[in-house]
Amino acid sequence: MHLPLRIALIGAGVMGRQHQTYLARSDEACLRAIADPSPAAAEFAAGLAVPWFADHRQMLEQARPDAVIVANPSKLHVPTALDCLARGIPVLLEKPVGVGLDEVRTLVEASAKSGVSVLVGHHRRHNPLIARARQLIGEGALGRLTTVTALWQLQKPASYFEQAWRREPGAGMLLTNLIHDLDLLRHLCGEVQSVQAMTDNRARGLPNEDSAAVLLRFENGALGTLTGSDAVAAPWSWELGSGENPVYPRQDQPCYLLAGTQGALAVPQLQHWRYAEAGAGWHQPLSSTREPVPAGDALALQLQHFVRVVRGEARPLVDAADAGRTLALVEAIRHAASSGVCVTPETL
Ligand SMILES: NC(=O)c1ccc[n+]([C@@H]2O[C@H](COP(=O)([O-])OP(=O)(O)OC[C@H]3O[C@@H](n4cnc5c(N)ncnc54)[C@H](O)[C@@H]3O)[C@@H](O)[C@H]2O)c1
Repeated sequence: MHLPLRIALIGAGVMGRQHQTYLARSDEACLRAIADPSPAAAEFAAGLAVPWFADHRQMLEQARPDAVIVANPSKLHVPTALDCLARGIPVLLEKPVGVGLDEVRTLVEASAKSGVSVLVGHHRRHNPLIARARQLIGEGALGRLTTVTALWQLQKPASYFEQAWRREPGAGMLLTNLIHDLDLLRHLCGEVQSVQAMTDNRARGLPNEDSAAVLLRFENGALGTLTGSDAVAAPWSWELGSGENPVYPRQDQPCYLLAGTQGALAVPQLQHWRYAEAGAGWHQPLSSTREPVPAGDALALQLQHFVRVVRGEARPLVDAADAGRTLALVEAIRHAASSGVCVTPETL
């Protein structure tokens, strides 16, 4: 029988508060303290009757948590995580793991050298329906994976951009949102060998991109496209399709269409298309069934996994090096979009 882990939260904005609701429901972990300089966070901590600190280093020294969840602005992720590792404290670090590959290399080295774990918050990998989709692809249900069509098309309200950091370098749709889709594409379809891309910022007129079109060549030979925009009145995105977060009204629309020589799969519905007989083609009817979608809340499962990681019972499902490869893909897309040439993430 373990005592609940005492977990501190660094950054108590939208995402940090979501983590808090899962901590409140857990009997394996509890909220030890909050570090966030904003008055709103001080008020939030007071309401929960947990110690509040403006500075996370002071919190680490005084509250001495067993583990930390970091959900501050993305450009603070690596320096904050390094402060935790230096004190031997394991971290659940929100995505993106960092905003530059050099700083992420420093983090990977620090984690390896200290032996202290970093789990990166690509929580969708913990979603049971993603696990099932990966299993189907791995079992060969689609044959040779050939084409992948990924969509992230939705409308963020203007109020989303009122937070200054969301308009500044280190934020943007690629690093904040498409990074989730790119991570899942790596998880489902394998590593990406090269990318070509175009981005645009004219729908919103902010410095960061609001639209992107990306071509992907996977190491296994599959070809893919990912089109994204945060400025369109459209229903095709993980957020609106998966029902993972009830704050987004659900649409029964796919966001990933994975096609292979023996079948196809629409995600998140897990609609599985195939011909009844081998050798059939476009003159025969295609049948489709919905694979049962296992129940399970990705953020709750991520927290359970983090508890096991902290106790030394599991290795992080997404460690800093793995999340660094997803970040390299984002960087490759940026390079490809600005140069117009094909970029290999591995070379960055
Ligand atoms: N996994 C997901 O699906 C998901 C969803 C949303 C956001 N995120 C990530 O979570 C992070 C936060 O995003 P958000 O939307 O909650 O932003 P937010 O602006 O709502 O919250 C950020 C919080 O960090 C605080 N902060 C600023 N400087 C700080 C510091 N030095 N120390 C501690 N706290 C500090 C701010 O006061 C604010 O409360 C981002 O990195 C984002 O990419 C992940």
